[in-house]
Amino acid sequence: MPPSLNDPDQEQWDEYWSSNSCGLDDSIIHRYYRRSIWEGYLEALDGLNLKEPSILELGCGTGYKTARILQHLGGRATLIDFSEKALERARTLFDEVGIDDVKFVKGDIRSVDYKDEFDLVHSDGVVEHFEGNEQRRVFENHCRAVNSTGYVFIFVPSPTWCYRVWKWGLTTLGRWRFGYEEPMNEENVVSILESFGMDAVRTVKAGRFLGVVVNRAPPKPFYPHSVD
Ligand SMILES: C[S@@+](CC[C@H](N)C(=O)[O-])C[C@H]1O[C@@H](n2cnc3c(N)ncnc32)[C@H](O)[C@@H]1O
Repeated sequence: MPPSLNDPDQEQWDEYWSSNSCGLDDSIIHRYYRRSIWEGYLEALDGLNLKEPSILELGCGTGYKTARILQHLGGRATLIDFSEKALERARTLFDEVGIDDVKFVKGDIRSVDYKDEFDLVHSDGVVEHFEGNEQRRVFENHCRAVNSTGYVFIFVPSPTWCYRVWKWGLTTLGRWRFGYEEPMNEENVVSILESFGMDAVRTVKAGRFLGVVVNRAPPKPFYPHSVD
């Protein structure tokens, strides 16, 4: 399903990224948000066998987390978003931090077709914007893209009272700009990932977000039926 210029979600995100930075020069609230998510990422990365990884970020927005991972571990990255405005932000951020081993791809994460390619596939604040089969497809696309020794990280807002107050506040003030968004709990995220053949490695907390780390489950041993 290629993104069309009339895709209302794409237009909504273009509009969002036209007026929000979330780059390096943001408000104190964004800085706090970014720091707490990055601390969650550091905890997620801790002790994993990832050296100079190939990284795929789905729904990259500014690509901030990928830039931090590359600064931390080295490696190279592919960043995908269907919003040209988001990709402009990402290009600017990577220029500012001087990282150039990066591909910026304008594409729809519901229909990307990477298979067994990356050491780390991640997204932050993305899967909760999809429902039902579309959401499952986005999860599946994370799991298909990772190689057999790699990891998938999925960060989502969790349904805490703090999240609900924040969402209610923005909605009441007419400042909710994120379209459809339903927070997810750990069991929900893990069970979808397990249904695509992944094993849970750990879950981390990052501000109002939680991050689930999984890798490929080993193939099940095959025991042929014994014939008496
Ligand atoms: C809440 S933002 C998170 C961005 C990023 N994680 C960050 O922190 O800057 C969600 C992002 O997903 C992108 N997105 C939403 N639906 C998409 C789709 N179907 N295909 C590609 N990107 C999509 C939006 O354009 C937006 O940049």
